[in-house]
Amino acid sequence: MRIDIITVAPELIKSPFEYSIIKRAIDKGFVEVHFHNLRAYALNKYGQIDDMQFGGGAGMVLMIEPLDKCISQLLATRTYDEVIYLTPDAPTLNQHIANSLSLKENILILTGHYKGVDQRVRDKFITKELSIGDYVLSGGEIAAAVLCDAIIRLIPGVLGDETSALTDSFQDNLLAPPVYTRPADYKGLKVPEVLLSGNFKKIDEWRLEQSYKKTQTLRPDLLND
Ligand code: ADE
Repeated sequence: MRIDIITVAPELIKSPFEYSIIKRAIDKGFVEVHFHNLRAYALNKYGQIDDMQFGGGAGMVLMIEPLDKCISQLLATRTYDEVIYLTPDAPTLNQHIANSLSLKENILILTGHYKGVDQRVRDKFITKELSIGDYVLSGGEIAAAVLCDAIIRLIPGVLGDETSALTDSFQDNLLAPPVYTRPADYKGLKVPEVLLSGNFKKIDEWRLEQSYKKTQTLRPDLLND
């Protein structure tokens, strides 16, 4: 997979790609991530990429011209399966969307900043808009890092233990069950007996039951999906 990210703040987004599972996925060649600084496509020597919005109102808007230049250049080089814009005024990212994006070949991600991008950029280039939750961040960079992490760990082969992504919370619209490790008894705080039983059928049943109970209590909306 190849992911291209257009941003006005490359330094803000790079570090999540330099650690842990995501770094290993890059090092092992499962994914390439390329950052494109929108400033390189600025209108003038002052580095202008944004302007005030028509009709008045607070906040600067990323202009169509630098974005058109940058996106068009990338689109001329390869075909993208999705051109994604990260913005709070969009449907929310979930595990199903992450699963389907993890199977794509090329993804282009545009991160907004300030008041967002000129609507004509969205109309012309964007094939999918995503929010990472009902709150507003200062920019789309951190949202893009979240999206990439959610996608990359799902690419087949990235996680050493193939089953571990499948048992994550949300994979079956259920929250993950509680987990425990040694010691089995810590100052009287005991691990549920069934997990020590060695009876894997019973353990699976217990985990499923715990998942249902937890989902019913904390996220009943998932059970209606
Ligand atoms: N940019 C600002 N807030 C955002 C959010 N919640 N999701 C995606 N992009 C954003």
